[in-house]
Amino acid sequence: MNENYLDRITLADCRAHLPLLGNNSIDLFLSDIPYGINLDDWDVLHNNTNSALLGQSPAQVGKSAFKRRGKPINGWTQADRNIGREYEAWCKSWSLMIWPKMKSGASLFVFGARRTIHHVINAFEDSGFLLKDILAWKKHSAHHRAQRVSIVFERRGLKDAAETWRGWRLGNLAPIYEPIAWFIKPYRIGGTIADNVLEHGVGAINIAECQINGSNPTNLLEFGFQKDEPRIHEAQKPIKLIEFLIKLTTKEGQVVLDPFMGSGTTAVAAKRLKRHFIGFEIVPEYYEKAIERLDREEERPYSSDLTTSQLRLLEETEKRYGS
Ligand SMILES: C[S@@+](CC[C@H](N)C(=O)[O-])C[C@H]1O[C@@H](n2cnc3c(N)ncnc32)[C@H](O)[C@@H]1O
Repeated sequence: MNENYLDRITLADCRAHLPLLGNNSIDLFLSDIPYGINLDDWDVLHNNTNSALLGQSPAQVGKSAFKRRGKPINGWTQADRNIGREYEAWCKSWSLMIWPKMKSGASLFVFGARRTIHHVINAFEDSGFLLKDILAWKKHSAHHRAQRVSIVFERRGLKDAAETWRGWRLGNLAPIYEPIAWFIKPYRIGGTIADNVLEHGVGAINIAECQINGSNPTNLLEFGFQKDEPRIHEAQKPIKLIEFLIKLTTKEGQVVLDPFMGSGTTAVAAKRLKRHFIGFEIVPEYYEKAIERLDREEERPYSSDLTTSQLRLLEETEKRYGS
């Protein structure tokens, strides 16, 4: 049933294809979905055409991160405030399609934004999934953009106000983590999760293969980009983070679905770990780059092809005899 899609990224709106996947055929859903925060054109999932909201500030021109202003300039209209609900409806339009495709007890990792993840959770719960945890991906560093209020007032010639508000800023604290909602597809009435593992091959977590510096992992996941990791997409995720989540919840040969592939990180990670993948991407430029990235995988062996014990042996051998 999945032959046309297996180990391929398909250039398409995933919603046209998800219903065609085989029922009960997916072992893991892992996707960094659009966030509904107007990051770029692909992230505008509402009907609000407020030009201030969707415009660019001078500081955003030519930047690789936020390409849209993402907040109205003169207060919030009702249309601005509906954005979250429209995003939730968009999420639900496809999370309902995912439901029959997942195996019973399978995990779903959904990357989101801190201020819109609750809409994703509502949509997934409405579609039948259960929230298991919210993991935090901790980045090594975070851009902190918060304008000084005193400077704004000085520009307006308001010297007293500038003095009163010195040291205060407009904005957020440095955003050092991103949430990952972890859902499961509930297993059958009358069965336990252990029964589910026996019947469907999913539902357990592989702690032994996912040690971090020799300790059991926590739900705070600190992973950065590798030195040689290509940076292609403004929302790209570190390959090691994605590999960790795949290893945690699947075995070799199982199937990982990512309908929002971007630069193909999930596909590359799945391939390195000998899992099958099914992917979609709607923007041709990202699709092309993801395919190039996958092709490059053919050319070089990766250390993640090795199991942890093989890696340890290799490290010990290198230490003893040099590499
Ligand atoms: C957050 S990005 C994923 C980035 C990815 N994690 C990476 O490491 O490169 C989400 C991607 O979903 C794509 N997208 C948005 N709507 C889509 C749809 N309906 N079908 C398929 N892809 C879509 C966007 O073009 C964007 O590249």
